[in-house]
Amino acid sequence: MDFSLTEEQIMVQEAARNFAQTELLPGVIERDNQQEFPDELIKKMGALGFMGIMVDPKYGGSGMDTISYVIIMEELSKIDASASVIVSVNNSLVCYGLETYGNEAQKQKYLTKLATGEFVGAFCLSEPEAGSDATSQATTAEDKGDHYLINGTKNWITSGGRADVYLVIAQTDSTKGHKGINAFILEKGAPGFHIGPKEDKLGIRGSDTHTLQFNDVKVPKENRIGEDGFGFKFAMKTLSGGRIGIAAQALGIAAGAYELSLKYSKERKAFGTEICNHQAIAFKLADMFTDISAARMMVMKAAWDKDLGNNYDMSSAMAKLYASKVAMEHTVEAVQIHGGNGFVKDYHVERLMRDAKITQIYEGTSEIQKIVISRGVLKG
Ligand code: CAA
Repeated sequence: MDFSLTEEQIMVQEAARNFAQTELLPGVIERDNQQEFPDELIKKMGALGFMGIMVDPKYGGSGMDTISYVIIMEELSKIDASASVIVSVNNSLVCYGLETYGNEAQKQKYLTKLATGEFVGAFCLSEPEAGSDATSQATTAEDKGDHYLINGTKNWITSGGRADVYLVIAQTDSTKGHKGINAFILEKGAPGFHIGPKEDKLGIRGSDTHTLQFNDVKVPKENRIGEDGFGFKFAMKTLSGGRIGIAAQALGIAAGAYELSLKYSKERKAFGTEICNHQAIAFKLADMFTDISAARMMVMKAAWDKDLGNNYDMSSAMAKLYASKVAMEHTVEAVQIHGGNGFVKDYHVERLMRDAKITQIYEGTSEIQKIVISRGVLKG
């Protein structure tokens, strides 16, 4: 078993770390306050190849492996989880979904632009009454011969306001249950497609999250992904990879909070010495380092499974379940180590604590990960 990174992976790690420090760190507090993420930063991430990390270079991607993807996600998330969720949804859900299950015309038309950051993608599965229970889609797509008519509402859509391309999951034939669900490619600006106001969120405030409304939105038949009825499996397969990205995001949030805490504890003095010399703080750092190292191994294992072509439904769910728990627990500890300073924005850890919570909710709550894991365990 070889735990070392390749030279290429180390270079990618340095590039992502450098970008996060020089481009993401300045302004991260203001972006969180103002709930904005400039297009210019997305273009820069695109230029570095971060918007199509695993996409084949023939479609404009970087052609890297999933290990490199999680390395990049960890480094970006240490500084700005709003940046990394844009990257994660674009890579794992939209680009991966199109590259793996789209046809050649769809890849040429959309993937080539999404992989370079010219376009931003959004993934539209969740609904007001169908978050965890994803088979209960109320959004309908009526077959009209050469096109579908989409009606319904989608909730909590990452990049919902700024995306150029939306992958929309909808029910075509309710009598067939999950086998009557399809996935469609929808372009921004289609008549009848309305973008609701931006959600005012606890965390990842820089990334925009919206409710979307579809009123008789016409989607040409050639924009359906895969065979008729493939939409639910498309969503499930895509989300398995998405969970690796969010696990890496949680890992990065935890690691970022740990790095800030270690530094602070070596500078801040109390009772005549730096606070790291007090066991109360040193033991917290030991627990953080241990749990973060374990989370990193689980994230890497899930990425490795995907790269090797192994089934990664369970390893991605386990990585997300564990890394998000570590992120939540240890960002709270990071605030505690910082004391009163941890409670104000300038020290960054309160933002990381707020950002951590969403990793236990989106792309399947922790309870959903336990459903996936327990079903796998019981199947043997
Ligand atoms: N790969 C392939 N097929 C799969 C699959 C997978 N990983 N998981 C399920 N399926 C298939 C099953 O085999 C079954 O097909 P058959 O009937 O042909 O055997 C079909 O899908 C239905 O599966 P289940 O009976 O297991 O479905 P279920 O109703 O019990 O739900 C679930 C399973 C795991 C709970 C699923 O509903 C789920 O994952 N829910 C959470 C949804 C989610 O993660 N939403 C997040 C929204 S996206 C987001 O957050 C993006 C963002 O913006 C950040």
